[in-house]
Amino acid sequence: MNASSKVIIAIDGPAASGKGTLARRLAAHLGLRYLDTGSLYRAIGLTVLKAGQDPTNEAQALAAAKILNLDAFSAEELRSEVAGVAASHVAFLKPVRAELLDFQRKFAEEPGPDVKGAILDGRDIGTVVCKDTADVKIFVEASLETRIQRRIKELQDRGESFKERHVQADMEARDKRDRDRSVAPLKPADDAWLLDTSTLNADEAFAVALAHIQETGTL
Ligand code: C5P
Repeated sequence: MNASSKVIIAIDGPAASGKGTLARRLAAHLGLRYLDTGSLYRAIGLTVLKAGQDPTNEAQALAAAKILNLDAFSAEELRSEVAGVAASHVAFLKPVRAELLDFQRKFAEEPGPDVKGAILDGRDIGTVVCKDTADVKIFVEASLETRIQRRIKELQDRGESFKERHVQADMEARDKRDRDRSVAPLKPADDAWLLDTSTLNADEAFAVALAHIQETGTL
């Protein structure tokens, strides 16, 4: 557990499970600083691509991780499918993950004086980054079909062009890379609370998660 009086909440889950929306809302409601750790991997993936390099190349991805600059990209660029796929390639590489650990842990443990704590979302927050410090761990799941439909709606809302079968293939490939990798694979921590959002909308998922956090007596 976290030794300071600040709270740490870890939210993990696969792509389009609803974890990002949930984490953002919990952060605003509970007065916590929020870190979307996926954006770190996305920025590294985009840096590699923009340099005309290969996100699966360890030396190139690590060099990009060392000069990570989130401000170099717009929110739209970071959220694009291209960035998501490149992110899952660089995230596969152990030295890249190691390079990001200190930054994420510092964010969690020293969120600043004007907040009650931090909330981080990703794939390995409960199992690696805040394994021993998180006060609450939530693993957000949803069926593959639900997640594909959510991603399609997101792409439509953003006006991005796509082919439905590509969305499905990309999602399945990304799931597989995230779950099967040897370093920090996507899986619930032993002490995580599981939240299946397949039949819940964003409001319902928020209400259920908030009730759980309140039940733990953390905040
Ligand atoms: O959550 P998001 O879709 O933005 O993450 C993009 C990719 O970054 C994921 O598919 C995953 O491969 C990687 N990632 C990770 N560990 C995290 C956050 C994201 O491996 N903590």
